[in-house]
Amino acid sequence: MRRLHDRFFNQAKREGKLARSVYKLAELDRREKLFRRRDRVLDLGASPGSWLEYILEAIGPEGAACAVDLQPIHRKFKGRAHFLLRDARELRGDEFVRIAPGGFDALVSDMAPNTSGIRIVDQARSLELCGCALDLAGRLLREGGNFACKIFCGPETEAFRRRAGGFFKTARLRKPAACRTESIEAYFIGLDFVSGRYGNGGRKVDF
Ligand SMILES: C[S@@+](CC[C@H](N)C(=O)[O-])C[C@H]1O[C@@H](n2cnc3c(N)ncnc32)[C@H](O)[C@@H]1O
Repeated sequence: MRRLHDRFFNQAKREGKLARSVYKLAELDRREKLFRRRDRVLDLGASPGSWLEYILEAIGPEGAACAVDLQPIHRKFKGRAHFLLRDARELRGDEFVRIAPGGFDALVSDMAPNTSGIRIVDQARSLELCGCALDLAGRLLREGGNFACKIFCGPETEAFRRRAGGFFKTARLRKPAACRTESIEAYFIGLDFVSGRYGNGGRKVDF
């Protein structure tokens, strides 16, 4: 039976974190070095805000983060976080021109569809969100930028990994310890973006 209150849930409660998912990002960042001080970061699927809180800490007071979600974020993050209550699939890119005029240093997506309980349907919906995140990464990441994206693993995962992997010098799938054992989720990691390999030939369409 699925245990709702595992050690990461209890740890998050003890440490006052907004969600247990922060430990997934912390592990990914520890292993992959996704963020640096002063980075500009785009966080897709950001509510309730545990990743955003982690990112703001990682990039420091001179960094800036932009967060997007269909749901609001209730915690206030003094000044350095810009929040858009939007469907990421409808973003064009020019929303971010003021915040990251030279492109983002990192783009992360923890977007997850509402689950139907039908595995193949949920995988297809997750894949659509991954495609959206990858497309935004292609348009908004600066040369050398980093990407992390939640994916519900299924028959199309390998094809996504190959396609997305082509845009980065390093690419892999990771399943952090905080992902529930029974969960089909994993994270695609792309490091060191090569804009010339992206479909638009490196031109940042919306800048
Ligand atoms: C697992 S939660 C994210 C948790 C978050 N990373 C945190 O640590 O607090 C997944 C989020 O994806 C958002 N989401 C799903 N589809 C989306 C879309 N099309 N555009 C924007 N956000 C979306 C959901 O509203 C939900 O808040």
